[in-house]
Amino acid sequence: MLWKFGGLRSRAALPLRSLSTQSGMAAKTAAAEFQQRPSQQGKKKQLLLSDGLQQYLVDHTPKPELVAELRQRTEEGWGRSAQMMVPVEQGHFLTWLVATLNVRKAVEVGTFTGSSALAIAQALPSNGTLIACDLDPRPLELAQEIWQRAGVRDKIEVRLGAGAESLQSMLDNGQADSFDFAFIDADKKGYLQYYQLLIKLVRVGGVIAADNTLWYGQVADPEDTTPNTEAIREFNRTVSDDKRVSTSLIPVGDGIHLIRRLH
Ligand SMILES: C[S@@+](CC[C@H](N)C(=O)[O-])C[C@H]1O[C@@H](n2cnc3c(N)ncnc32)[C@H](O)[C@@H]1O
Repeated sequence: MLWKFGGLRSRAALPLRSLSTQSGMAAKTAAAEFQQRPSQQGKKKQLLLSDGLQQYLVDHTPKPELVAELRQRTEEGWGRSAQMMVPVEQGHFLTWLVATLNVRKAVEVGTFTGSSALAIAQALPSNGTLIACDLDPRPLELAQEIWQRAGVRDKIEVRLGAGAESLQSMLDNGQADSFDFAFIDADKKGYLQYYQLLIKLVRVGGVIAADNTLWYGQVADPEDTTPNTEAIREFNRTVSDDKRVSTSLIPVGDGIHLIRRLH
């Protein structure tokens, strides 16, 4: 796995626990954003279905080995913030989509303990690559262990740092038009900036998938004018109006906006 941190690259995994200052700030940022999410009254991070229908959905979703352990250990280690993980059925949807699109080169912004990255990487061919971007190194320790045991670690290259800077450096390194697939799942106020960079990084015909784009249904509540809700609204409005892309906003998990680059 190729690690990048502070402009240096190494094939060895970083001593993540030593990166305490940056990781502490990043963890607080991520946790703070989670606390700002609309109240879920104990529900998981997904749109409301009846309990029976939700169970039916999960019962009919393949659950790869290690997913249960990753979810349990994330819940033990991160408490309520563990709800930042993509739900099981959404993870499977990502696996299915990446396989169906024959993705070879992918990027994600917002990796946390690695659930979505695991789902994406499992569907990549053996010579496929996922560049996983996050600014918090601590949850990536668990992610790395699980990816290793799942046999996908060699396909995943971690970029530690602010997502926009990582994407910009890929553009600067001549990677425009080279990605088949991108997944956005980081800070909501950054979505538009990630999109404007990713639309240059994905090839024509490539797909960008943006998570949480129905935001627990709060996007449809005119009384909710909180910054994250407004940011998601602006993101959805912008991509829906963008003539360079074809889009579909679908209610899987907390809503995924699928965006295909046309030209
Ligand atoms: C919702 S979680 C990602 C969940 C992950 N996709 C999964 O399935 O487990 C959001 C992540 O975005 C990261 N993040 C927040 N702001 C960021 C930024 N500006 N650049 C990169 N990552 C950021 C947080 O550290 C956090 O790990």
